[in-house]
Amino acid sequence: MAEVIVALDAASASDAERLLERLPDVRWVKVGSVLMTREGSDLVRRFVARGLRVFLDLKWHDIPNTVAGAVRGARDLGVAMATVHTLGGRRMMEAAAEAAGNGIAMVGVTVLTSHDPASYASATGRHPAPLDGEVRRLAESARDAGLSGIVCSPLELGTVRQVLGGSALIVVPGIRRAADAGDDQVRTAAPRDAVAGGATHLVVGRPITAALDPAAAFRGVVEEAGAAVAGRFES
Ligand code: C5P
Repeated sequence: MAEVIVALDAASASDAERLLERLPDVRWVKVGSVLMTREGSDLVRRFVARGLRVFLDLKWHDIPNTVAGAVRGARDLGVAMATVHTLGGRRMMEAAAEAAGNGIAMVGVTVLTSHDPASYASATGRHPAPLDGEVRRLAESARDAGLSGIVCSPLELGTVRQVLGGSALIVVPGIRRAADAGDDQVRTAAPRDAVAGGATHLVVGRPITAALDPAAAFRGVVEEAGAAVAGRFES
């Protein structure tokens, strides 16, 4: 069964906590750099204390010693999963994986979906086109460094699942059901297609958080994701 992670892109802790009151069945939440910078680690502690699994998406990219310290801090907070940039390099990812131990699942970001080939070349001095080959290369380095998995867009699922094999975690944002607005997401997939493609965790924000009935929207995503798992194993 794929997990559905609700992206809490709220402006304040009280907004996030009010929203969670309306989502009693949610098990996983994503806390990103906006909420973390505004509200700090106390909010993460409160989420953990109420039994939530926290995906801390701070996309660390620093020297190995510093990233290892941040991972240990997240582990002490009770965070369940966190992100590093695979472009931080092999030693940084190894340090993150070692600091995580069995306490946190560390997943790697490959090529930010905000990049196109030109902006990626300008940032890195490399000209991989299409960027798919770069996603493959970075996913391989994450696997070899011992990370638990990768964050990727729905369009990269095939490549990433092939590189990582069957048991790795694949976390996919940009999830939209047929009836949902796309918002600013371009590369989207329906929950059932993402799960059928190998996603283990679906990150869903506005289709749930901005819905008139967030609990019903959450249930809808969970049911569609669950149906896809059943289909995958029955075929
Ligand atoms: O509201 P929506 O479902 O688009 O939110 C998706 C979440 O996943 C947001 O928190 C967004 O920052 C994050 N995300 C993304 N695309 C990526 C990486 C992260 O949408 N490539």
